[in-house]
Amino acid sequence: MTDIRIAIDGPASSGKSTVAKIIAQDMGLIYLDTGAMYRAVTYLALNNSLDKEEDIIELAQENPISFGIDSDGKQLVYLGEVDVSGAIRQKDVTSNVSRISAMPKIREYLVDAQRFIASHGGIVMDGRDIGTVVLPDAELKIFLVASVDERAERRHKQNQEMNIESDLEILKVEIAERDYKDSTRKTSPLVQAEDAIYLDTTGMSINEVVNFIEDKAKDLIK
Ligand code: DC
Repeated sequence: MTDIRIAIDGPASSGKSTVAKIIAQDMGLIYLDTGAMYRAVTYLALNNSLDKEEDIIELAQENPISFGIDSDGKQLVYLGEVDVSGAIRQKDVTSNVSRISAMPKIREYLVDAQRFIASHGGIVMDGRDIGTVVLPDAELKIFLVASVDERAERRHKQNQEMNIESDLEILKVEIAERDYKDSTRKTSPLVQAEDAIYLDTTGMSINEVVNFIEDKAKDLIK
């Protein structure tokens, strides 16, 4: 067990969650999918037709986000007592999450929660602003990228596995659009931290990416 904090940032579907989960398990660290938190809050806003950030935060406080694991080891996301793991991956949430996650007070609220979780020990956190804003002093920062085509194909496969309606060409457009929105928003845009390692995973297997990051982490622990 180690207290290393690993920040993995990158654009939509760059494989962050997949590799972060494996690394956390291999190294005995907590895993936190911050995208799931923004998705959960977006789901709350949409389900209750809320637009104002104050109202969304108030409802989010009444329905705190928590995580669990099912019998297959899959991560579950709860809002209060309700399992929203499937709902937060649906299309309406995906197409609105950039808008909701651009709201500064919502970011403040979730960043505080993320830092609190990280204060409990070693962690692998994936998102867009982990290395720049949430954990600027993380011991290891990785900026994970891959081509839009490859990311769309990965997400398409994932959707099919989760029985979520999916169209490859539409995914390419949506991913490029989300890249643009996430990188150009005013509050905490997706940018590489100066001290992050840039890793283009196009053509790399999950194992290769995991091994690369774990080797870097082990060098730091030595
Ligand atoms: O990683 P993901 O696709 O599940 O993330 C969903 C959205 O949440 C993404 O479009 C941008 C936003 N997000 C963010 O703004 N900051 C984070 N740390 C994580 C995600």
